[in-house]
Amino acid sequence: MTESLQQIAKAMVAPGKGILAADESSGTIKKRFDAINTESTETSRRDYREFMFRTDEAMKNYISGVILYDETIRQTSADGNATPLVEIIKAAGSIPGIKVDAGAKPMAGFPGETITEGLDGLDERLAEYYKLGARFAKWRAVIDISPTIPTNACIEANTEALARYAALCQKNGIVPIVEPEVLMDGDHTADRCMEVTEATLRSLFNALARHNVLLEGTILKPNMVVSGKKCATQAGIAEVAEKTITVFKRTVPAAVPGIVFLSGGQSDELATAHLDAMNKLGNLPWALSFSYGRALQAAPQKAWGGKAENVPAAQKAFAHRAKMNSLAALGKWDAKLEKA
Ligand code: 13P
Repeated sequence: MTESLQQIAKAMVAPGKGILAADESSGTIKKRFDAINTESTETSRRDYREFMFRTDEAMKNYISGVILYDETIRQTSADGNATPLVEIIKAAGSIPGIKVDAGAKPMAGFPGETITEGLDGLDERLAEYYKLGARFAKWRAVIDISPTIPTNACIEANTEALARYAALCQKNGIVPIVEPEVLMDGDHTADRCMEVTEATLRSLFNALARHNVLLEGTILKPNMVVSGKKCATQAGIAEVAEKTITVFKRTVPAAVPGIVFLSGGQSDELATAHLDAMNKLGNLPWALSFSYGRALQAAPQKAWGGKAENVPAAQKAFAHRAKMNSLAALGKWDAKLEKA
């Protein structure tokens, strides 16, 4: 029996579980490896991702799904058994997913803004990814903030593309993660981030309705409402939690089973603290969890440093962050646990 979109979406946001975003493009993972003085080759990328997916403590207990990059969904294990990495993820009880957008490209006529590409041929690519084992997908749109942007044109073009992507996913039996990321670069206030996030989510859910996307089989991956990195006054944890939830209550229908955050450049511990504070507010119609890239992988990457002998320490660091974020997804995290 094939699983329904609703069943997959529900499993992706099972209590205390969240998603590992390991879908860095070859360009992005090179930047991460440069920071730990490690050469980025097809083999080093495989070795790194394989030991992450073989971290049983994290994968079996806290990670409901993994977002892969096209290269990784086709790779096999280092041990000569040619086990697909997808099978390692499944053996841990986790669901393989795939990034399918082709990146954010400069939007013609709108300086400083981007439109995410990748719709051409997407139907066929999704059918192939399904055969390779993917049961959910991700598409990221990028909305930047300055005194003059985002424009309505940028928001509308990006949410229209997100909705077309989501409809194609569902046609192929794949749950779409819709990711409209309002960036935290810049010096804007949390209030400005709130205003832009609200406009973006309102536009997104209009577009999803227009394209007949089944909300029960869709997962939202948004930013939190935070102050711009260069803003002189930074909103505190309680303010971020309150503003973020206020925006969601205004814009995200209760039929959406879950909301999983991106970390977006927040420190590891702050990404955890914010998620925990939101879940502690309680009484929310959607599961609220994580789909972190950097906030789950920065610590293990640092501990690994590209050296095989450091793999156990790196796996320990990954399991620790996964556990902290699992507790935050339940509203049961405490800063004291970070030192334990
Ligand atoms: P970060 O958590 O590093 O923002 O990555 C999440 C992601 O998948 C961005 O598309």
